Amino acid sequence: MTTVSSAGHSRRDFLYIATGAVGAVGAAAALVPLIAQMNPDASTIAAGAPVEIDLAPIADGQIVKVFWRSKPIFIFHRTKHDIELAQNVNVASLPDPAPDSERVKAGHEQWLVVIGICTHLGCIPLPHEGNYDGWFCPCHGSQYDSAGRIRQGPAPKNLYLPPYTFISDTKIRIGEESTKSA
Ligand code: FES
Repeated sequence: MTTVSSAGHSRRDFLYIATGAVGAVGAAAALVPLIAQMNPDASTIAAGAPVEIDLAPIADGQIVKVFWRSKPIFIFHRTKHDIELAQNVNVASLPDPAPDSERVKAGHEQWLVVIGICTHLGCIPLPHEGNYDGWFCPCHGSQYDSAGRIRQGPAPKNLYLPPYTFISDTKIRIGEESTKSA
């Protein structure tokens, strides 16, 4: 069972998905919360077990935040415009050069999945803020683009990419890397 609720933190809809309810714990645990609290699967998830995320509810242009290994993970359903912005950049001019193709999975360019921790001093950047159609870090002003690349400010590196794989066109498993595309 996936829980989605509106947080209203950005200009566009910004959703939080409770990943504890979408991983191995599943619907049964959600129906029996007292048992779920003691379910060893929950601690397994906290320790780093992969979590599966259903992408179908994430609308074009939306960014949702989920958790994996207690880290915030942003999933950005990029629009055509977002993708074009990310691709039409002089990569060599970037502080941490990386083409858009290295930031997404081939055949799934509309999905960007990044660890939501600023690479400067670890704040959580705000989605849909800043000048680059990506994130703005309110702590010291770093700005990331629609590929999660650092474009401006003190952060030295792009937002890191978690290991993940597509297990279908509309579902990913975070915590497990695969070279194959679904
Ligand atoms: S922690 Fe993000 S800019 Fe300093």
